[in-house]
Amino acid sequence: MIKMDKKLTAKIGPSILNADLSRLYEESQRLINNGADYLHLDVMDGHFVPNLTFGHPLVKCLRNKIKDTFFETHMMVSDPEKWIESMADSGVNQYTFHIEPVSDVPSICRKVKEAGMTVGVALKPGTPVDVVVDYVDLADMVLVMTVEPGFGGQKFMDTMLHKVQWLRKNFPTLDIEVDGGVGPNTIECCAKAGANMIVSGTAIIGAADQAKVIKSLRDSVNSVLHQS
Ligand code: DX5
Ligand code: ZN
Repeated sequence: MIKMDKKLTAKIGPSILNADLSRLYEESQRLINNGADYLHLDVMDGHFVPNLTFGHPLVKCLRNKIKDTFFETHMMVSDPEKWIESMADSGVNQYTFHIEPVSDVPSICRKVKEAGMTVGVALKPGTPVDVVVDYVDLADMVLVMTVEPGFGGQKFMDTMLHKVQWLRKNFPTLDIEVDGGVGPNTIECCAKAGANMIVSGTAIIGAADQAKVIKSLRDSVNSVLHQS
């Protein structure tokens, strides 16, 4: 249930996908020191998407070194139900899964919550946005993918912004996340469309001054949030 008194805040969640993964802890801690609000951890199974990254054993090791930061796992996997318990056990705070391969989305949402995590539902570019009407009461966040999931460093798809606009119009207090090709050049249209949770990989990881980029992304979202 969406709480009407909930106040939307801007949150920046760097994706470490394109970082030097041999130095995952150092790279993650650097992002946190530079102002990241949360870490967006991209989990891939080589089946739902044509790429592989890492799973819960690595997330658990990272959690052992980073105690307090909010961890979101973006589950780009064919069977998201399978990893709920192990991700919860690894200290994940939010379990964001794609609805496309799932037949009973409400059941997965409930299981994620029972495991003690908040729940995000993610939409690939080809998935229409209005399908979330059936799940939005159960979800804490909706992720609108602005690239085809699987790889960092792709071009932002501005044709996805209408989904964000539609969600913001219909669900004024919902946390809406965008992911894929988001950075200083594309943040303004995301913020104006209504996104308040911003995933950004290459644009932050590759920046000479990460803190500056993170701050500018947050400022862009806040300037829209504070207009209304
Ligand atoms: C893509 C991942 C994204 C990606 C973002 O499948 O879900 O989180 O790492 O990276 P950029 O910002 O480089 O598109
Ligand atoms: Zn992601």
